[in-house]
Amino acid sequence: MISSFSNSISRRTFVLGGAGIVLAAIAGSRVSRAGGPAEYRLRAAPGAARLTSGDGPQTNVLAYNDSMPGPVLRLKQGDPVRFIVANGLDQDTTVHWHGIRLPNAMDGVPGLTQPPIKPGESFVYEFTPPDAGTFWYHPHANSLQQIGRGLAGLLIVEERETVAVDRDILWMLQDWRLTGSGEIASGFGSMMDASMSGRVGNLVTINGSKPRDLSVRAGERVRLRLANAALARILALRFEGHRPIVIAVDGQPCEPHAPENGRVVIGPAMRIDVVLDMQGDPGKRYAVIDDFYDGLSYELTNLAYEKAPLRARALDTAFVLPANPLPEPDLAKAVKQEIVLQGGMMGGGKLAGVGGLNGMAMPGMGGGPVWAINGMSMTGDGGMDMPPLFTLRRGVSCLLAMRNQTAWWHTMHIHGFSMLVLTRNGAPVPYRQWQDSVLMAPKDAVECAFVADNPGNWMLHCHVTDHQMTGLMTVFRVA
Ligand code: C2O
Ligand code: CU
Repeated sequence: MISSFSNSISRRTFVLGGAGIVLAAIAGSRVSRAGGPAEYRLRAAPGAARLTSGDGPQTNVLAYNDSMPGPVLRLKQGDPVRFIVANGLDQDTTVHWHGIRLPNAMDGVPGLTQPPIKPGESFVYEFTPPDAGTFWYHPHANSLQQIGRGLAGLLIVEERETVAVDRDILWMLQDWRLTGSGEIASGFGSMMDASMSGRVGNLVTINGSKPRDLSVRAGERVRLRLANAALARILALRFEGHRPIVIAVDGQPCEPHAPENGRVVIGPAMRIDVVLDMQGDPGKRYAVIDDFYDGLSYELTNLAYEKAPLRARALDTAFVLPANPLPEPDLAKAVKQEIVLQGGMMGGGKLAGVGGLNGMAMPGMGGGPVWAINGMSMTGDGGMDMPPLFTLRRGVSCLLAMRNQTAWWHTMHIHGFSMLVLTRNGAPVPYRQWQDSVLMAPKDAVECAFVADNPGNWMLHCHVTDHQMTGLMTVFRVA
């Protein structure tokens, strides 16, 4: 089933409540077309949301179809779809379908894959999602402000066959820097944020509001899909008294495994699907804690058990998702490409690595480039002026070695492909997994591989949006 979403034309705030809500499809804007792809309408425009609670202050945000986050788009693996995206903003926009392997012209990078959608205009995106899994969508224009003010939504591609869980729960995680009166704080793109960890906020929301308890039942098996749509915040979730099993990373099924130390670490733009078997006691509450940043741990929400169990014992059968049709890279014949991440603020307050960089940067962001990839800074949201850093012959396997020379964390995101992660700091990764957004700690080195089967000019950038805007971005070509 393909679900659709709101086509409400009112400016009424659409607030999706709390951690307990399984985001249902919002009825409305599907246009039936005999024989053709399913067709949906999305409109980006200003809106309002109650981020802190149901009776808290309204915050001015940007929304898709008056919903913040945007409507959950539920597609079916292998079924063609068409999105008519209208721009109700006062500035250019586009939509990038993050993680979906689709034709280059549908990728949503202004200047590189399409002209920007001007205010009042529309653009038609058409593609057929090859992979089932958890993806998301967001603008790729003025990204820091547009994503940072709420333009983002989940895109779920359903498996062809039904996957047996009791509930499929979606958590779209967003991070806000709010003022005392509940407005989004100004100062986007400050040099301090840009050169350090990015714009980390002071309120984390789940599905658009400060989370309430998630009510669960003993014995229940939940597929919890986590998506980090924050500009910069990294989360490390611990589920007290529970043992989450990671079953998919960035939409792609992986070898099911318990995360290291029971912490589900999720960088900006990443998605992680876990299976949670509810093994707690009826009537009790268990905290879900985010303790990524030293000394700043907090309770994100709680699992609140109802009195009546669903089953006497939690399931202990393995849970495996069907594989996606990803082409297997041929490591023996792979072309090696190295990517070195440079720049940012160092401990002593100096900018490292920027002085001698090639000045490909566009002006703006108040301070010029702060970061670079292999000595070149491409800033902003994408563009056509940047020559590709490397070109791959269509069909070759590429071994991409990424080295983080900086003192900061980055999520490196590749457009158009999913990469098989091979090694981290020289050691093979313990579980087979594919990623489009790879979190890298300071000084980390990661090797990945993919088959360059999708022609076009593709972005490769850090998804800490401040970093992307100030130079941690490049383009490669498959021809
Ligand atoms: Cu999620 Cu280039 O972006
Ligand atoms: Cu970064």
